[in-house]
Amino acid sequence: MPRTVRTRVVIVGAGPAGLLLSHLLADAGVESVVLDRRSRSDIESTIRAGILEQETVRVLHESGASERVLTTGNRHDGIELRFDGEGHRIDFPSLVGRSVWLYPQHEVLKDLIAARLAAGQDLRFETEVNSVGDVETEHPWVTATTADGDELRIDADFVVGADGSRSVVRPTVAGPSTGNYFREYPFAWFGILCEAPPSSEELIYSNSPDGFALISQRSATVQRMYFQCDPAANPDALSEAEIWDTLQARVPGTSLATGQIVQRDVLRFRSFVARELRHGRSVLVGDAAHTVPPTGAKGMNLAVADVVLLDCALRALLLENDARLIDTFAETALKRIWKAQHFSWWMTSMLHTAVDASPFDQRRQVGELRSVVESEAGRTFLAEAYTGWPHEG
Ligand code: DHB
Repeated sequence: MPRTVRTRVVIVGAGPAGLLLSHLLADAGVESVVLDRRSRSDIESTIRAGILEQETVRVLHESGASERVLTTGNRHDGIELRFDGEGHRIDFPSLVGRSVWLYPQHEVLKDLIAARLAAGQDLRFETEVNSVGDVETEHPWVTATTADGDELRIDADFVVGADGSRSVVRPTVAGPSTGNYFREYPFAWFGILCEAPPSSEELIYSNSPDGFALISQRSATVQRMYFQCDPAANPDALSEAEIWDTLQARVPGTSLATGQIVQRDVLRFRSFVARELRHGRSVLVGDAAHTVPPTGAKGMNLAVADVVLLDCALRALLLENDARLIDTFAETALKRIWKAQHFSWWMTSMLHTAVDASPFDQRRQVGELRSVVESEAGRTFLAEAYTGWPHEG
């Protein structure tokens, strides 16, 4: 017989979406259990993107989830788009009165895990969910296997799938995968972390005939950079010298400060939206609901926006028996999700060079970039999306 635990909300996934949701719900007195198949150290050490929208920062800070986002994170007031040998700065405050913060996702996760554990959250690592049931009733449940091999059953009022792109909750909510929205791209990013001083104060998104590169930062001594590569590329196949030559050739005009490469990875690009985000008393948030290609760093920000909305909807449902917000959750969330899908696709297509791009395609792309940077309307459109649209909820 599995051991049975009773809670109000069972949250599958201890990533940014699941942890933040447990944090916001606890503030309203709504108890939850959070499960993740990964270990705490795996979660805290996986390198992801580093840009937080202003509203993401506000939620993390005002909810007490992270002090360090403001003390350790760095505010960035602009980015540079580089093409045709020239840089063009997009100045966020003057265009939209907002900024973004550079604060890596794994640091957000460390803060959230520490805050949840300090508050006594029931948070179980290395616990694998096996099945989800009865979501069409008011008494849904999940079963799971713990790190010790024990069987666990969790009875709840609501099930949340915040368990990433390979979600086990997704089939329960969205049905067969054939109905989902999906797009693949013919490129990937070769990402490095290196021990070097910053090569630039702000991020540089560079379109070059050889392909895209992004110069990002992490700290005074560690930098994050990416260059467009083949999705089948082997991250270990290039020497450090080849990596630096590739990066340098794609940011003409900047002399990159080089240093030892301490981590390398290849990131695949996908756009994905689940066909359904809610079914009865189950819902999907974050990467379980949608994936965006990395250009523009929308992934975690979108997860936070989902969670802010879901937090309001679950408070109303579970504390006041008011189902209106949960009934409109998917429709409301999808408006932002599809805007972010468009933005991530647009930044990706505008900045990367397709392998089969003709001379016409390349010149048209430069024309597109020029129409953005030379027009205040164009710069404003980019700045609005990059710094993040206002949250609902
Ligand atoms: C980073 C990643 C992104 O996808 C992006 O658009 C900007 C920055 C980063 O990892 O620093």
